Amino acid sequence: MRISLLAYLAAAAVTFSFAQDVPSLLKSKGCYSCHDVEKSKVGPPYKVIAKEYKGKPDAVKTLVQSITNGSVGKWQGLASKYGVNITAFYMPRQPVSKEEAEKIAKWILSLEK
Ligand code: HEC
Repeated sequence: MRISLLAYLAAAAVTFSFAQDVPSLLKSKGCYSCHDVEKSKVGPPYKVIAKEYKGKPDAVKTLVQSITNGSVGKWQGLASKYGVNITAFYMPRQPVSKEEAEKIAKWILSLEK
């Protein structure tokens, strides 16, 4: 009885983490301290990132790499292309798994219709 309750709780916890939506994942990982969906902050807005990468081959792969390894200097030129005003030239590697980064990258790209 006790074991099956624990198994149930473990399964519920797994289900919960899969069901967690991307905006709350971004929140729990601290992304919003540097990014907004619409507005420029320390880093570029997610909607503008979507504009830049949507439809490009390897878009998901590129963004996953930037999120998990960090990104330097890419947005110096892109910021003026899109008229955004960012205040840092690099993003440190972020504490997300590759799977989470992939989910996030797809979500970002889906912001550009
Ligand atoms: C300390 C501030 C900071 C935090 C925290 C941060 N970012 Fe960034 N982010 C930046 C900056 C600055 C850039 C622009 C980097 C560049 O110019 O190469 C950037 C760029 C990006 C890009 C575009 C990369 C590319 O290849 O063009 C993505 C996607 C992104 N961030 C997602 C995230 C996600 C998801 C999180 C949270 C897990 C996050 N960022 C947390 C500052 C931050």
